[in-house]
Amino acid sequence: MSQHHQHDVLIIGSGAAGLTLALTLPQHLRIAVLSKGELANGSTYWAQGGVAAVLDDTDTVESHVADTLNAGGGLCREDAVRFTVEHSREAIQWLIAQGVPFTRGDEHEREDGGFEFHLTREGGHSHRRIIHAADATGAAIFNTLLQQARQRPNIELLEQRVAVDLITERKLGRPGQRCLGAYVLNRQSGEVDTCHARFVILATGGAAKVYLYTSNADGACGDGIAMAWRAGCRVGNLEFNQFHPTCLYHPQAKNFLITEALRGEGALLKLPNGERFMPRFDPREELAPRDIVARAIDHEMKRLGIDCVYLDISHKPAEFIKAHFPTVYERCLQFGIDITRQPIPVVPAAHYTCGGVLIDSSGRTDVPGLYAIGETSFTGLHGANRLASNSLLECFVYARSAAADIVAQLDQVEMPSELPTWDASQVTDSDEDVIIAHNWDELRRFMWDYVGIVRTNKRLQRAQHRVRLLLSEIDEFYSNYKVSRDLIELRNLALVAELMIRSAMLRHESRGLHYTLDYPEQLPQAKDTILLPPIYGD
Ligand code: FAD
Ligand code: SIN
Repeated sequence: MSQHHQHDVLIIGSGAAGLTLALTLPQHLRIAVLSKGELANGSTYWAQGGVAAVLDDTDTVESHVADTLNAGGGLCREDAVRFTVEHSREAIQWLIAQGVPFTRGDEHEREDGGFEFHLTREGGHSHRRIIHAADATGAAIFNTLLQQARQRPNIELLEQRVAVDLITERKLGRPGQRCLGAYVLNRQSGEVDTCHARFVILATGGAAKVYLYTSNADGACGDGIAMAWRAGCRVGNLEFNQFHPTCLYHPQAKNFLITEALRGEGALLKLPNGERFMPRFDPREELAPRDIVARAIDHEMKRLGIDCVYLDISHKPAEFIKAHFPTVYERCLQFGIDITRQPIPVVPAAHYTCGGVLIDSSGRTDVPGLYAIGETSFTGLHGANRLASNSLLECFVYARSAAADIVAQLDQVEMPSELPTWDASQVTDSDEDVIIAHNWDELRRFMWDYVGIVRTNKRLQRAQHRVRLLLSEIDEFYSNYKVSRDLIELRNLALVAELMIRSAMLRHESRGLHYTLDYPEQLPQAKDTILLPPIYGD
């Protein structure tokens, strides 16, 4: 039987953004945190490098702001960058207070007046400012926050719950625009439940699964972006998909990242003959921002017809490598690669969605009562290319500001009542799941081939034609058959792909992560690509 639930705050997503918000809200509120799979299934758990923040006395807010603006290709919103960086220290202090076991600096660093924790470096940063827990920072943060959340009786952690769509006053034909809750597929009961909430938060992560090759786990399907769009929110800058330059290239390694911190600690990119190539592309060499490094690798792979390039840290002492990069060392060893002695075969893969749902500095979307935080949101921090390790920072800073905003409104917002139950009377069980599997593959392959690191008008037109055909097939399927996780994700992924392609077609220049052979130059003025949902044309 389908059920009705009531929570003060419904948080869709159990990653860094969702858990931080849940822990920052007052303990008298009834909070639900949903995950569509296991709680650890988002990107947070897999984050390796760390969190960028101004922590060392020799570093400055100005320097972190300048590096972020520089990586962002002229498109960052300076107020959002400043806001995020200015709140970085307190966000890290909060994490330390929660008990996150960040790697400590060695004694001589501390004696030299340095920060008590070890700070590493990544591409585009002019300073060592990445706080980390060896090379498994995401797992350390996730496990700590989860442990804290489990101790709070007011927080319900609900696994295997897939939000299908948001419930809004507008969709119900009622006066007003407010978000009242969400329909959520309970994968244990197979029913779609109705969740009433005073505040709803999208903390659903990114959409890198739209590409065939990705560093992300399976759930990164842009569900939050798609739900927000259907609910009437604007989305921005979805053409900027970040490709991480170095994912492990091995037939059995599905999506394993080789952290940029390796390059931060001296690893070099090489061709199969051992020759370095980054000095030919950028004076910052291996530590140039990601868009430049990924494009250089793509260029060399196409020029030489090779399947991968190599990342080599074997010139560093074996003990140093094993102490700083235990996860990468172990994982590579499982595939027969000893990184203390051999270079690592690597390729670029889709990694991060820079655009997303438009929000203000409190995480508020265009729909009252609906917030978006973390990778699903578009704050203006990343511009045309995200600076390494600014993403987790954004999750913490905006989750904390959203919590403050919710608290300020508590007295004015009542629990919504009388929401209609999900209507499944017109649908049957599908006997055609092959269509879902086929469409998944087709979508991810043409996005990789036509909307990848290097684009052209023709490729984008081809992709647009195909995605529109898929969308109409998926719509028909959705109207006739019971929802499943695969169908919900495919529906969202296809919609987000269409929005990405549309955004890419609107940008008649090459900037940051959007590089097109038809417009190789950068226009003098930087402009965001903001898409308005259909309700604006009603
Ligand atoms: P996620 O952690 O992705 O969590 C999303 C949550 O939403 C999950 O719980 C998921 O189940 C849930 N969800 C999604 N859709 C639904 C739905 N329909 N219904 C219910 N639940 C749903 N960034 C850094 O700053 N530093 C790093 O070192 C770093 N390393 C990275 C390494 C890897 C391999 C990857 C993939 C990313 C890395 N990033 C890094 C990026 C960073 O990890 C992510 O941007 C960040 O963790 C996103 O957090 P989030 O809370 O927004 O979403
Ligand atoms: C990495 O460790 O290379 C990932 C860092 C990031 O995505 O910010």
